[in-house]
Amino acid sequence: MSEVEPVVVVHGGAWAIPEKLWSESLDGVKTAARCGYKVLKDGGSATDAAEAAVISLEDCPAFDAGTGSVLTFDEQVEMDAIIMEGTTMKAGAVGAIRNVKNPVKVARLVMEKTPHVLLVGEGANKFAIEHGIEEVDPDTLITPYAKEKLAKFKQYNKTVYSLFNKFDPVEGDGHDTVGCAVVDGSGRTACATSTGGITAKMPGRVGDSPIVGAGGYADDIVGAVSTTGHGEAIIRSCLARHIAANMSAGKGALTATEESLAYMEARINGFGGAIAVSCKGDVATNFSTPRMPWAYVKEGKLHYGIHPGQHEVEDY
Ligand code: GLY
Repeated sequence: MSEVEPVVVVHGGAWAIPEKLWSESLDGVKTAARCGYKVLKDGGSATDAAEAAVISLEDCPAFDAGTGSVLTFDEQVEMDAIIMEGTTMKAGAVGAIRNVKNPVKVARLVMEKTPHVLLVGEGANKFAIEHGIEEVDPDTLITPYAKEKLAKFKQYNKTVYSLFNKFDPVEGDGHDTVGCAVVDGSGRTACATSTGGITAKMPGRVGDSPIVGAGGYADDIVGAVSTTGHGEAIIRSCLARHIAANMSAGKGALTATEESLAYMEARINGFGGAIAVSCKGDVATNFSTPRMPWAYVKEGKLHYGIHPGQHEVEDY
């Protein structure tokens, strides 16, 4: 395989994001990008790096994934996650899983230990426990902020649409998803995405994140993508695959993500964000919501931002 400059790129969710979460969100994505990159430096694969970065994001309570997941209408945590490796194009995913700290670990077990791609609900939980994943008290995943958001949603009877529409942003609403896309030094790619979904979702609702081609996509011939935003819009526009198809047609990662997000907005008024890395190491972070925390490590530098147009750089 050819030598490629390795890249680990992560996001912490595309939505409005209130000021009180900016600093914690930026720290969270910077830590996760460093964590994933260290795995590569230590000889791990692209898949190992994507999983490690997303575990780090799931463990940060500022994000809607793992600890910090938002609540369903009946005040439960139900999480979705995917992992996909671009060499074999194998994928594993879980939907509406409860009582586990790191859904991405279960997604990887689905990929590696079953003939299936997606396990949901009770079946996913049973599988996780059978494969040594610790069952945690759901209260340990619930933050005061997640409770506050559900209470606010119910009080004002908001629509899910208002959570992501940048023309109708209610400061502090939304809350969405984490993800990672990786190309390693051998040109192997992987992606992982994890989420608590959207506040006040119906019990049993599964979003875009665990759906191949919507919440994530990886193919060594093209690159890797992880998406975030309004799950129903992302599923309907096959956002991750749409971006990969643009890259496959020769567009750079930046143009590919811009055009696919613009398509989702123009065709179905959907808003969100995406990170992408091509198999050559071309990287993009993009969003059509008011903010999205992102970070990536490339050529010994850590790049990061959260506001439109912001791009800071520091030593890795
Ligand atoms: N993008 C996360 C969700 O809608 O579930």
